[in-house]
Amino acid sequence: MRLRHCHNFHDFRELARRRLPSPIFDYIDGAADDEETYRRNTKAFESCELIPSVLRGVENIDLSVIVMGQKLAMPVYCSPTALQRLFHHQGERAVAKAAAKFGTMFGVSSLGTVSLEELRKAYDTPQVYQLYFHKDRALNRAMMQRAKDAGINVMMLTVDSITGGNRERDLRTGFSIPFQLTLGGMVQFVIKPTWAINYLTHERFKLPQLDEHVDMGGGAISIGRYFTEMLDPSMNWNDVAEMVRVWNGQFCLKGIMSVADAKRAVEIGCTGIILSNHGGRQLDGSRAAFDQLAEIADAVGDKIDVMMDGGVRRGTHVLKALSLGAKAVGIGRYYLFPLAAAGQAGVEMALSLLRNEIERDMKLMGCSSVNQLSRANLKYR
Ligand SMILES: Cc1cc2nc3c(=O)[nH]c(=O)nc-3n(C[C@H](O)[C@H](O)[C@H](O)COP(=O)(O)O)c2cc1C
Repeated sequence: MRLRHCHNFHDFRELARRRLPSPIFDYIDGAADDEETYRRNTKAFESCELIPSVLRGVENIDLSVIVMGQKLAMPVYCSPTALQRLFHHQGERAVAKAAAKFGTMFGVSSLGTVSLEELRKAYDTPQVYQLYFHKDRALNRAMMQRAKDAGINVMMLTVDSITGGNRERDLRTGFSIPFQLTLGGMVQFVIKPTWAINYLTHERFKLPQLDEHVDMGGGAISIGRYFTEMLDPSMNWNDVAEMVRVWNGQFCLKGIMSVADAKRAVEIGCTGIILSNHGGRQLDGSRAAFDQLAEIADAVGDKIDVMMDGGVRRGTHVLKALSLGAKAVGIGRYYLFPLAAAGQAGVEMALSLLRNEIERDMKLMGCSSVNQLSRANLKYR
């Protein structure tokens, strides 16, 4: 199986499964507890159906949207994800380059493996910086200042990770940073030598957003310990209000799920929220973002940019989310599997397939621009 044999998300996932040592594949593919939320995220899109209009002159389709003050050529962006150079040696560089080619936004994680400054300089497309909230308030301010100095367009604070999710696939394989593989996990690396050769012959693995603060090299602190020791479980709305003031620009909260919290985000001056359950990797049994979208869009959609992520695998999923009131939709595994399978060529192919699907689906829906999508073209079963 090669990249040219991939026609959809499922094919990218299968190619990644064949090419990656299984502990890495499982880290990307896995989710918390029984992975119910992970499955529901995609299933949720089946709860309603699209009603097309015909004979509406759809030769030219405009897929562009403005979200968080950024103009995107398509209504989909690459959500921030950790450790990308572990999946493929090109990592964030491949994702940023592909996002720039398709005129869309990408996120750099606090746990990213390429520096936010390098990416900001190299690729001319809207860039998000995803932050976690540290106990050390001076560190939070320093990180925001660093992002400001680099010219980051959007600050995104992830609020659903106050503690790490229970990812049992990782417990079984021993996946952690630094690696603490079980014997079974090690065998999986031996039988996929191409990954190991690539990993060992490219630039050393590091976490440049954190390396001044966390000594990953000497194994002094693992990512697990980073979450438990450095992040602040006492984080509250006042803390975040202060960050919003300090940033003084586009600021969104990732992981909002309740109407009350969405309203609170408006009150403290956020300019966007992302309905998300972290791809099912945190609280298993939590609601799918798509199921919760209409209620939140109704409550705050005229005051703040509402986005969502989780389970998006098809152009029609994007159309359904936009119809309910999302301004744009984030993807995670949809670009991570092709990245892992084939680097930049993979991410480009994924974005191209998704864009073509959205464009084709818009034509079939009789809509020539995304703002023509509305609840009128959706019906629940
Ligand atoms: C391997 C992996 C790593 C992730 N790392 C982060 C991260 O560092 N910060 C963050 O806010 N979200 C992270 N996420 C969550 C994504 O940003 C996004 O919310 C999620 O992947 C959406 O679900 P989907 O993968 O079904 O599209 C990660 C997701 C995956 C799969």
